[in-house]
Amino acid sequence: MPRKVSYGLDYDDDAYDYEDYDYDYDEQETYEAAQTKQQPLKKVGVWQCPICTYDNEDDTSACDICGVLRSPLVKACSNGSSDTVKVNRSSSDVPSKLKQEKSTVLPSQSASKVYVSSEEDAVSSKDGGQPQSLTSNLNSMNLNAKAGSSKNARTRGAASQAKYKPEKWMLPDQAEDGLAQLNLAIVGHVDSGKSTLSGRLLHLLGQITHKEMHKYEKEAKSMGKGSFAYAWALDESAEERERGITMTVAVAYFDTNKYHVVVLDSPGHRDFVPNMITGATQADAAILVIDASVGAFEAGIDSFGGQTKEHAHLIRSFGVDQIIVAINKMDVVHYSRDRFDAIKQQVTMFLRSCGFKDSFMTWVPLSAMENQNLIAPPNDPQLLSWYKGPYLLEAIDSLQPPTRDYSKPVLMPICDVVRLQSAGQVSACGKLETGGLRSGSKVLVLPSGDIGTVRSLERNSQSCSVARAGDNVSISLQGFDVNQVMAGGVLCHPDFPVAVSNNLELKILVLDIATPILVGSQLEFHIHHVKEAARVSKISSLLDPKTGNVKKVMPRCLTAKQSAIIEVVLEESVCVEEFSKCKALGRAFLRSMGRTIAVGIVTKILDQPE
Ligand code: GTP
Ligand code: MG
Repeated sequence: MPRKVSYGLDYDDDAYDYEDYDYDYDEQETYEAAQTKQQPLKKVGVWQCPICTYDNEDDTSACDICGVLRSPLVKACSNGSSDTVKVNRSSSDVPSKLKQEKSTVLPSQSASKVYVSSEEDAVSSKDGGQPQSLTSNLNSMNLNAKAGSSKNARTRGAASQAKYKPEKWMLPDQAEDGLAQLNLAIVGHVDSGKSTLSGRLLHLLGQITHKEMHKYEKEAKSMGKGSFAYAWALDESAEERERGITMTVAVAYFDTNKYHVVVLDSPGHRDFVPNMITGATQADAAILVIDASVGAFEAGIDSFGGQTKEHAHLIRSFGVDQIIVAINKMDVVHYSRDRFDAIKQQVTMFLRSCGFKDSFMTWVPLSAMENQNLIAPPNDPQLLSWYKGPYLLEAIDSLQPPTRDYSKPVLMPICDVVRLQSAGQVSACGKLETGGLRSGSKVLVLPSGDIGTVRSLERNSQSCSVARAGDNVSISLQGFDVNQVMAGGVLCHPDFPVAVSNNLELKILVLDIATPILVGSQLEFHIHHVKEAARVSKISSLLDPKTGNVKKVMPRCLTAKQSAIIEVVLEESVCVEEFSKCKALGRAFLRSMGRTIAVGIVTKILDQPE
């Protein structure tokens, strides 16, 4: 049966393994060129924004880029000192969006690190822009930044890691059933049919019995939600069922010819993107579910209100490069080839811009409701007449097996914790990123720093003797204070602790934002399964998106599509590693006002701020 990731931290980001893409840099270059040109001369017919230095047309009263009002700034410019403007800027000069951002983000920052999904996350936001290769922009970021010293951080040094010798049992045993583990995130816009598809697959593959299915159907019908019967297999909470939406990631399992698949059914509603992140950050590959019906596809792909694009960006930035696009609800459009082709064309362009390669995209038209093209070829004559590609299960089996770090010290970001207070027992759940574990293994849990022992292990809801990199496991622990093991923590080898820090240097790619990022901007920082309040303490440099070289030192602000090196100070320390050392702990996302505004990687762990 599915397991709910009921807490939920946020997390994420990635990684650009960005080896792939081409990016349209024209706009970026135009902006840079304008910046360079404008420095020495005061131009006629334009006024320069003292915040972002953009040259605005003389007849505008607010900066086109960052929205700062002109009139108080004209005086300041005439004094020739834009710094003065910064210092003297009263709160009334702050663009309303910035003010909103401060007041909205701060309260949630003081919240516990354990994610609380709520409408607070859902502040309406503007998601402008056309498809762009934003993720690919990080392609050019070389990940060789040297590690900063970290007085405040316990770091497992490269040298000591090199000395680590894995034991024989930690390496995969070919004699086992031969199926590889595949963590498969199901993502996409709200109501596209992710849970219905997941439930249908589980039922068809024998993970949900007919009796259980009958029960879901009866219950769903009695609540007037008959069409949600398959989704109910994943949407277990009363609130999810009542509202007809997924709120937290559900974890379920099925086997194919090639894989033990761990299904991570994500919420599509924008309020729950942080939850989507915490689950989908464990993904090796993804199914992007798209609703083919007229109006629904258009709403999902819309940059302002749709989640298709944000999910695709996020999933790519988690390092996922293989994606199956399931064009669902084809029954509603009578299995029309024209509709399929039109959607495919539009989404292909967008996915390319995110950095997905054509050869790693698979397109499958299907209907979860009518069981067309899921685990067998379709039998609908219309679909059969034109579709000759793989059915969904075949597409899953065609995915390349992920590579795993078996020979590194064990490391698992804790995604979920199950406590049995009365028995003093605690289990940590998550995906083992590196190394292996078995009963009796000693483990260190950070940031608390407690050491204990593995009592027993469960994989795919069944007890197992050994767990290895890639496995999604529940680890029953002993020797720990049950309250010291928390989602968002990291379980690691006692001799190879990860770093714990609140001061980080990041290399980021800014997404489509309307409000620029400034020094002092308050943001939500997401890394693996943690969400933490953060402040931008420095914008060190703007990078050339093609070469990754520094284009400008200490720019005043960052706008859409720019890549940059920045420093952030977090309210609380988190477990973190430089991306070059550990991808899983080195990918970060910045969010504000309910939207992901930047994706990036940790390039340095810095000293604790004064
Ligand atoms: P969130 O998790 O809230 O983002 O939604 P979801 O993507 O999981 O969608 P869900 O599975 O809850 O389905 C939403 C609605 O779409 C339900 O009423 C389903 O019955 C319906 N639906 C799902 N798949 C199909 C399909 O193939 N055809 C038709 N006609 N309806 C479908
Ligand atoms: Mg759902």
